[in-house]
Amino acid sequence: MRVGILISGRGSNMVSIAEACASPGFPASVGVVISDSPVAAGLDRAASMGLSTAVVEPGEHADRTAFERKLSEILSAHDCELVCLAGFMRILTSEFLADFPGRVLNIHPSLLPSFPGLDVQRKAIEHGVRFSGCTVHFVTAEMDAGPIVLQAAVPVESGDDPSILAARILEQEHRIYPEAVRLMAEGRLQIEGRAVQISP
Ligand code: GRF
Repeated sequence: MRVGILISGRGSNMVSIAEACASPGFPASVGVVISDSPVAAGLDRAASMGLSTAVVEPGEHADRTAFERKLSEILSAHDCELVCLAGFMRILTSEFLADFPGRVLNIHPSLLPSFPGLDVQRKAIEHGVRFSGCTVHFVTAEMDAGPIVLQAAVPVESGDDPSILAARILEQEHRIYPEAVRLMAEGRLQIEGRAVQISP
């Protein structure tokens, strides 16, 4: 299964997926890495791994529909059947999602449905939760609300600041996102209502 990865910044999750894809026997490969910003550090990282890259800037398109159409076009041109959002800082509309039904994944740095949205490591610390973590979920038009594929929990330690907690969570992101891609590529994920069944 070919995977298109959408990024906006650093791209560490993109690298973790690409590294998994490069390992022997992994059932997926990276078709293209697309950034919505020409200065995303992840673009250089992708290029240095020999991956195809593209930049699609919203500002260079008449409207959101045209922007999303371009994304779709590039993903299809690279035969991508799965789209992984990896630090992609835009909400995709149901028109885009309809091009890849049940085939768009995202990673979010909290245990959803707790703490959707932005700056969630700070919110978790301020709320006083003892555990946080990360979630790979299917993308729906509602932000951070789609069916959950995999989660990993990490403790929130006293004295944590958002960057320390983010680093602890990121380590788990890099483990579960490639695993979710593998499950998807092996055809083992079945969405049933709001839940995802994983077949053995
Ligand atoms: C990650 O924490 C991810 O969970 C969130 O944005 C961050 C992206 O980091 N959606 P990177 O660009 O993959 O390094």
